[in-house]
Amino acid sequence: MHFKGSLPRSRVFQGRVSASASRQVRPLSLGKRDLFIQNLFSSIAPRIDILSSLFSFGICNLWRRRVAALAQVRSGEHVLDVCTGTGNMVLLLAGNVGTAGSVTGVDFCEEMIAIASDKARHWNRRLAGRVAFFCSDAKRLDFPDGTFDVVSVAFGMRNITDTARALREVRRVLKRNGRFVCLELTRPEPPWFLALYRFYLFRVIPFVARIVTKLDGPYRYLPKSIYGFYSVAEFKQVIEACGFSQVRVHPMTWGVATAYEARR
Ligand SMILES: C[S@@+](CC[C@H](N)C(=O)[O-])C[C@H]1O[C@@H](n2cnc3c(N)ncnc32)[C@H](O)[C@@H]1O
Repeated sequence: MHFKGSLPRSRVFQGRVSASASRQVRPLSLGKRDLFIQNLFSSIAPRIDILSSLFSFGICNLWRRRVAALAQVRSGEHVLDVCTGTGNMVLLLAGNVGTAGSVTGVDFCEEMIAIASDKARHWNRRLAGRVAFFCSDAKRLDFPDGTFDVVSVAFGMRNITDTARALREVRRVLKRNGRFVCLELTRPEPPWFLALYRFYLFRVIPFVARIVTKLDGPYRYLPKSIYGFYSVAEFKQVIEACGFSQVRVHPMTWGVATAYEARR
């Protein structure tokens, strides 16, 4: 199914979806800070996968797998991945939804959506028919209430300018008792590890990234975004305050990343 122009909300999720459906459902209306974030991710979109794997020594892929496992996606279920980037979570989850299910990825950065759609097209023809990508702002998701069984967000929440609003949108589009899984970079706890971590995050990553990408901004933004975001305990409280229940927290790799799971 191809989505063109401004699609009526009620038609967003009829029938099968396809990887070629990478249209913007409705024009985005973004604030100044959103535009800054959008530009930043546009500038690194073609290299973000390789840089994420490089800087995390490949561990980011294991973290995503852990979160995908927590989601416990079953055949026939409909899944939404918010801040999908180049679609890594979508491609991971597509194997679980069967022929009757679907996985939709949304991101407000067109360059990311284009790469995600391309990846899906060239990846596995059988699974690619179950996925779709759209440009959409996480704070104004273009889906009717109660559309999805599962919503995932990997490394996205920290970048969204209004966390609570995005969480309420996630809750709105989830079915009753639907599952929310979230993966985020967090500040590790062990004191022996912290100094090393901070040196790597604030010094090594921006230095290497500047050489590789010739860009200064994105990887100076990264540490600030991690240190500017809620602590694990605070974010758990925010998730609860936004109406989710059974919120569980799973620290990974000494707390460098944390997986959160919750129910609508
Ligand atoms: C670090 S990338 C994560 C990509 C992907 N989830 C992954 O696991 O590789 C963060 C993504 O969030 C997107 N993003 C940030 N704010 C957003 C918003 N308000 N609405 C939609 N996408 C947003 C960015 O465009 C970027 O692609």
